[in-house]
Amino acid sequence: MPADDRLIVALDVPNLLDGGNIVDQLGDSVSFYKIGLGMLTGGGFALANELKQRGKRVFLDMKLFDIGATVEKAVAGIAEYDLDFLTVHGDPHVVRAAIAGRGDHATRILAVTILTSLDRDDLDACLIQSGDIQTLVVERARNAFIAGADGVIASPQEAALIRALPEAAGKLIVTPGVRPAGAALGDQKRVATPAQAIKDGADHIVIGRPIWQATDPRKAALAVVAELATV
Ligand code: C5P
Repeated sequence: MPADDRLIVALDVPNLLDGGNIVDQLGDSVSFYKIGLGMLTGGGFALANELKQRGKRVFLDMKLFDIGATVEKAVAGIAEYDLDFLTVHGDPHVVRAAIAGRGDHATRILAVTILTSLDRDDLDACLIQSGDIQTLVVERARNAFIAGADGVIASPQEAALIRALPEAAGKLIVTPGVRPAGAALGDQKRVATPAQAIKDGADHIVIGRPIWQATDPRKAALAVVAELATV
């Protein structure tokens, strides 16, 4: 069965050697990888480049946030790598700067709405306005789209609400927090199965530990690919 671009495997390992080993084990079963801050000092950019040369797609999860001028410069530098997805926080000034920095490159800018690890108490501590998290997430997604974001990161629970926004037409929704039936949840709390996340409007799902920590990662990836084929 060929790989399915809708599956993005998160390489949450500290360095490019460990990441490369997982990629080798997964072989042609996976075509899209996410590299994040955890590998930044362990050769993350080098692995991202290598994966592109091997014909894979790459999602660089940097979650950038700064003054506009700095975000624009950072994104302009990263866009030179011609990676596929890059994350920034969904504040409109950050998104606008990222889109300007991306220029003519094909890198899609994805906005983080509210980190799924935060609850209402955390938002209170950050002085973020009252209201339930889901409402704020949908409002932040709308504002990010208006600011020009190519897509958003959202939990599967929020995917359907965001997909229903008129501003979401033609935009990408990428959901972490996805667990095949029976897989360990780890620290993920609001989860859905791969098929359910896609049915709820996600274009891509991000799965990490249930694949790279599996005894047989390739078998685990192929099971997700088979599930996605049913949607
Ligand atoms: O191992 P697991 O499948 O939980 O990995 C999910 C990946 O998605 C991790 O890289 C995690 O940092 C990322 N992520 C997330 N929730 C968010 C944003 C990113 O789980 N809101």
